[in-house]
Formats: sequence, structure tokens, C-alpha cells
Amino acid sequence: MKLIIINGPNLNLLGKREPELYGSKTFEDFFSQLQFKFREAQLEYFQSNIEGELIDKLQEVGFSYDGIILNAAAYTHTSVGLGDAVKAIESPVVEVHISNIASREPFRHESHISAGARGVIFGFGLQGYELAVRSFL
Ligand code: DQA
Repeated sequence: MKLIIINGPNLNLLGKREPELYGSKTFEDFFSQLQFKFREAQLEYFQSNIEGELIDKLQEVGFSYDGIILNAAAYTHTSVGLGDAVKAIESPVVEVHISNIASREPFRHESHISAGARGVIFGFGLQGYELAVRSFL
């Protein structure tokens, strides 16, 4: 089972960035633990702060991988292009957010990703990524 986690802008700063919202663990540390936990899956990770690079990655993996776990971060709320890419590809996408976006500012309540996603997980911290992996296994 080939799965990839794709993280959007500022998620490279996890561990340092607003730890009260996003926790104090780096994504690299978390990802190593996740890979170990799900040794039976081929789990990859990609992060970019650049909208077009995220779209390129979705197009690259989106016709051959078994599943994509996407946290488009701030682009979730702004990017028609990323939403279109999710609809254009064949691999199922699970949208993940670390924080509970429904309990935050109104501009975070809208997602351009959700309509094309198989499902959405938010508010469970980094554990949301683990739940998304389990949903594919
Ligand atoms: C986020 C929520 C977004 O609103 C925010 O812009 C992020 C992170 C989350 O994982 O909770 O950067 O996607």
C-alpha cells in the first residue's frame, strides 16, 4: 500500500510554531514514529510552502498511489487550484487538519479541499494523520 502525506505552508515549522495549537513535536520525529508503526505500508512525506509545488506533487502521485493524506494548511481556505487538483486525480484523498478548524476564525471554516476528499479529519492533533493512515489500511 503506497501512501503519501502532503503538508502545505508553515507545517515545516511544527514543533516551533504556535505549540499551544499545533503541539511541540517536529513533523519529522512524528513521521519516523508513524513509519515505524505502519511498517507494512509504504509511507512517504512531502512538504512545500509553494502552492504550485503542492499541485505538481498531487498530479505526480495522484494516478498511482493508493492514498493521499493532505493537510493543505492555509491554502485549504484559499486555493481553488488545489481543490481542482484533488478533484482531477484518481487516488483517494483524506484531508487532515491538526487543529479544530471549526472552532477557529470563520475564514478557516471554508475548505476548497473537502468537496473532492474521501473524508476529513480535524481537531485530533498529529493523531489525525494516524487516523487517516488507518482509514486506508
Ligand atoms: C491547519 C489549519 C489551517 O487553518 C492553518 O492555516 C494551518 C494548519 C491545521 O492543521 O490545523 O496552517 O491546516
